[in-house]
Amino acid sequence: MNDRGLVVAVAGATGAVGREMLKILAARNFPAGTVKALASARSVGKELPFGKDTLVVEELTEDALTGVDLALFSAGGETSKKFAPLAARAGCTVVDNSSAWRMDPDVPLVVPEVNPEALDNHKKIIANPNCSTIQMVVVLKPIFDEAGLKRIVVSTYQAVSGSGQKAIEELQEQIRALFNMQEPEPKVYPHQIAFNCLPHIDDFLDNDYSKEEMKMVNETRKILGDENLAVTATTVRVPVFFGHSEAVNIETDTKLSAKEARVLLSQAPGITVLDNPREKIYPMPIHAAGEDETFVGRIREDISLENGLDLWIVADNIRKGAALNAVQIAEELLRRKLL
Ligand code: A2P
Repeated sequence: MNDRGLVVAVAGATGAVGREMLKILAARNFPAGTVKALASARSVGKELPFGKDTLVVEELTEDALTGVDLALFSAGGETSKKFAPLAARAGCTVVDNSSAWRMDPDVPLVVPEVNPEALDNHKKIIANPNCSTIQMVVVLKPIFDEAGLKRIVVSTYQAVSGSGQKAIEELQEQIRALFNMQEPEPKVYPHQIAFNCLPHIDDFLDNDYSKEEMKMVNETRKILGDENLAVTATTVRVPVFFGHSEAVNIETDTKLSAKEARVLLSQAPGITVLDNPREKIYPMPIHAAGEDETFVGRIREDISLENGLDLWIVADNIRKGAALNAVQIAEELLRRKLL
């Protein structure tokens, strides 16, 4: 801390999540005395807006992290693996948005509405969960506490912004190309993403699940603190710019009616229930984009299972799924006097 207050850095500030982190820090008046925008050497000198100010991008180096109290990292797993321990050793608290540290037993994996107490024993590196996991556990936590959870079956419909700025541009370019009768050129994704769905997010593993699917399995168990929870996931990239959607089927330990679930969820933090299908009211990514809340609707009792519920969960993957959750973690650290 310098005499003007906390020194805060955003690493990966030029990326889709990094830019949103800056926007959210400014909008929520995060008590930073100094804010530094860090990215690769390619971006040095670029200007980024921060509230009414402009920040000039510096290169992310060990030196640039010297004197920083809090660093929000969203510059890819390799960058986090290299720089987060260096920053932590120099006394900086890191909230890391990559998957590099999430399953490390010494690293808390935190969604502030769900498991803020996990922050209490942090060792300077804190992991921000996967975007699809965050919005799902925000909604499942109140149900888990009330009725227990035996099994989760989730299918996702994930926006391209989750793959970063280049993927947003790829969807725009492919749509433009197709309307001009040109061949779309896949670069970020293995196939055309415009007007298509790809059941393929991140690499495939030996068990035939994708890494993204196994992140949802393992991170959900870690955040809810139940190693035996049965979770299976199918993760799908869809041609949506912002906002992930999820069809979630759960089996609870004890009966929870749809009506009880609606009441429970409408009282829970960070959630908005939008559930009146007859009036065509249900969550959609076009409405969740730019919002802080996690939206849930289509809540109904599963006719194939005694204690089953179906839910449709939507949130802005760049905000609650990434940048906002990271800033909320930082706010919670301050509240707990851990920063
Ligand atoms: P840069 O813009 O200089 O490449 P996105 O997820 O939207 O693709 O953004 C990734 C972010 O991570 C960008 O800010 C990018 O900076 C940054 N980044 C990527 N690789 C590195 C690196 N090796 N060192 C520092 N920042 C990096």
